[in-house]
Amino acid sequence: MQTRKLSTLDVPPIGMGTWKTFDVRTEVEIDVRREIITACVSEGVYFLDSSPMYGESESVVGITTEGKRERLQFATKVWCTGESQGKAEIAQSFERFKTDYIDVFQIHNLLDWKTHLPTLEELKEEGRIGLIGITHYQTQAYPEMIQIMRGGRISTIQIPYNVLERTCEEEILPLAEELGIGVIVMQPLGVGRLVTDLRREPDLKPLRAHGIETWAQALLAWILADARVSVLIPATSKPERIRENAAVGRLPVLPNELRTYIEKETQRCL
Ligand SMILES: NC(=O)c1ccc[n+]([C@@H]2O[C@H](COP(=O)([O-])OP(=O)(O)OC[C@H]3O[C@@H](n4cnc5c(N)ncnc54)[C@H](OP(=O)(O)O)[C@@H]3O)[C@@H](O)[C@H]2O)c1
Repeated sequence: MQTRKLSTLDVPPIGMGTWKTFDVRTEVEIDVRREIITACVSEGVYFLDSSPMYGESESVVGITTEGKRERLQFATKVWCTGESQGKAEIAQSFERFKTDYIDVFQIHNLLDWKTHLPTLEELKEEGRIGLIGITHYQTQAYPEMIQIMRGGRISTIQIPYNVLERTCEEEILPLAEELGIGVIVMQPLGVGRLVTDLRREPDLKPLRAHGIETWAQALLAWILADARVSVLIPATSKPERIRENAAVGRLPVLPNELRTYIEKETQRCL
């Protein structure tokens, strides 16, 4: 796996999200997540994103990564209002992850960001967290995000970006590049819909010479062709898909004509 810069941190181009997929409770389900983590480590998908909003996700990440912590990077979020609630929730993330260091701490959906920012800055000063970031899944939040980015206190943003959701290309990505802010991409497969909602089978023939074997890989490669992106975090509940997704991180950058082909093929098949 190649690496990219997420601000000052070296990250793999393909990481993993855990919304829904790691919100599990039974032993059997947790065992499958252990397999997923084993695949992540062996395939170089070592950047994991979670949030207290994702139910059991942080705890399941903590349980399934035991003994592997130093080979992984953890990103999570604070998602509540109020200073004391924020501090308690942040402390809980360290406990659930079973770690004393979290690589990227983000403010989920910008919720009460003015309150949480000083708390996170203090933790960064103490060396307990690496980078401070913000996330939002709605493009209507971009004006506020831009204001925070310009404020100079955050190092990462997490935003949706995929072949159908390209709003971030207008202002967010150029500004991130200008300010050296790292970009984490959520919903790279459109919450799976860009793969599951197809009415026609995409024609992969023109992509095979480039090393692309599946439509999901085409969609991920399309995003990674944008050099302003640091890391994609597709979520999956299936261990074999880690290998499939990780392979995209080892491909050369997609040429423009193939990027355009994937856009047209998406329109034809959806
Ligand atoms: N506000 C926020 O901060 C925010 C909001 C949304 C998401 N996020 C983060 O971003 C992450 C990614 O977004 P997302 O989970 O919403 O959407 P996504 O990654 O675009 O899509 C996830 C879906 O894609 C499917 N999938 C994964 N790899 C595949 C493959 N190779 N072939 C076919 N299907 C595949 C998975 O199904 P299977 O389980 O069947 O593989 C899963 O249902 C989240 O998990 C979360 O960590 C953050």
